[in-house]
Amino acid sequence: METFDLSRYRNIVFFTGAGMSAESGVPTYRGKGGIWGSYSIEEYACQQAFDRNPEKVLGFHEKRRRSVLDCEPHEGHRVIARMPDARVVTQNIDGMHQRAGSQEVIELHGSLWRLRCDNCGHNKEDLGRSYEARRCACGSWLRPDIIWFGDMLDPLVMSRAAEAIGNCDLFISIGTSGTVWPAAGFPDLARKSGACCIEINPEPSGATRYDRVVEGAAGEVLPKLFGSC
Ligand code: APR
Repeated sequence: METFDLSRYRNIVFFTGAGMSAESGVPTYRGKGGIWGSYSIEEYACQQAFDRNPEKVLGFHEKRRRSVLDCEPHEGHRVIARMPDARVVTQNIDGMHQRAGSQEVIELHGSLWRLRCDNCGHNKEDLGRSYEARRCACGSWLRPDIIWFGDMLDPLVMSRAAEAIGNCDLFISIGTSGTVWPAAGFPDLARKSGACCIEINPEPSGATRYDRVVEGAAGEVLPKLFGSC
């Protein structure tokens, strides 16, 4: 595989989904071994589930934090991190891009490493294997600061992502099934702004909107395409 010539591009966006972290050992959501194959969204990934049983939902997310901490970013994450001018827009909540060294990551779906209180508005970083506290000082349950099914995306985060993608000239989508909106519309947004669009995925989405589809795993393809950049 030939190295991709980046010299023509000024505004590069890497748009990543769960497949970006798959080779690190973090399971994807759909497909073989996917999280939603073993855990139901209704029981673990929506506000109603949290309201019904906060301990159970917090326990699930704490388990996910532990499994992510047992994983390490791979060379693909590091290749992206070595391109400081490129923007990273991710659907992932695992913090792997940051652990690899990416400084500015637009996290569409929030982060496993933050908790918030919907009662008093307190929002705090919490990086350990176990939560420092499950309740806020105000007495309410803290919830993971992530987007569950049925939640609205943070409009500020969404507008930063749309601005980055709407102004990019190279858009590289990696490891997403492209099934969850509004992120599923991002390749079209990039295309409309005239960007060259590349997809990297061992099982490409089949969308026709990409100029180039590289059928392969992120950890193998990224170093080959961009490793010497
Ligand atoms: N390299 C690149 N892509 C990979 C790899 C790999 N090593 N392994 C798997 N993939 C691809 C799969 O082929 C699939 O297209 O990653 C994609 C994972 O898709 P999903 O599990 O649907 O993950 P994602 O698209 O990120 O899901 C979006 O849905 O469940 C919600 O909030 C959750 O952020 C998540 C959102």
